[in-house]
Amino acid sequence: MIEIHNLGKTYPGRRSVPVRALADVSFECRPGEIFGLLGPNGAGKTTALRIISTALRPTSGTGRVMGFDIVADATAVRRNIGFLSSNTGLYGRLTAREVLTYFGRLFGLSDERIRARIGELSAVFSMSEFLDRPCDKLSTGMRQKVNIARTVLHAPPVMVFDEPTAGLDVLTSRSIVQFVRECRREQRTVLFSTHIMSEVEKLCDRVGVLHEGRLHFCGPIDELRSRYGADLDEAFVRIVGEAA
Ligand SMILES: Nc1ncnc2c1ncn2[C@@H]1O[C@H](COP(=O)(O)OP(=O)(O)O)[C@@H](O)[C@H]1O
Ligand SMILES: [Mg+2]
Repeated sequence: MIEIHNLGKTYPGRRSVPVRALADVSFECRPGEIFGLLGPNGAGKTTALRIISTALRPTSGTGRVMGFDIVADATAVRRNIGFLSSNTGLYGRLTAREVLTYFGRLFGLSDERIRARIGELSAVFSMSEFLDRPCDKLSTGMRQKVNIARTVLHAPPVMVFDEPTAGLDVLTSRSIVQFVRECRREQRTVLFSTHIMSEVEKLCDRVGVLHEGRLHFCGPIDELRSRYGADLDEAFVRIVGEAA
């Protein structure tokens, strides 16, 4: 579903000192798999997810999403992917329903299909009481639910979420976690970044640990535990420490 090979990204950086955000990163996510990309701030998570979602071009390496090349077939990749970026904005004066309808039309969905999807997603994320409120009157958690609904409106087979639960309360996080589980039941692929270990534990089939642009571990959670210890927080610290 997603495969990347030796992905690298160097940003120009200030005063022409290049910043190497990603070096030689390879991994794959299979159908129906939930893959967690872990790493401290600045590890390169956002850079990797933006490249996979075609928002950014890699400096080196290649990648495919459902067989489509992330550079040469970017349009086809975009049709098959729902990408939640960490700074997705909503139009403040439009209501949640209007925003979702607007994006549904951009995705080329019929009005009937849009209504049906808004109904489904509003049930999944308990959005019915605020669907007709303007987005600038919504709480952070409500806004994130609308953002996620918007990125998955076209029911894409592959979903890429950049820190979907960052800064959210327990209830909102829980509904997002449940949604990701539901995606797996439907054989969709979810790649998401986080630094919340309990989420990784609850959700992920496999994880990748990124630190300073390099992948230091990639494999099933059980393997991570047996190599670095049962406590995932400690395992994480150990991997990152070993790398330092
Ligand atoms: N547009 C940019 N220009 C220059 N450097 C960047 C840019 N975006 C990210 N970086 C740098 O690349 C590295 C990885 O950043 P990022 O992918 O955002 O990490 P993460 O999402 O894991 O926190 C950091 O050192 C960051 O400062
Ligand atoms: Mg980030």
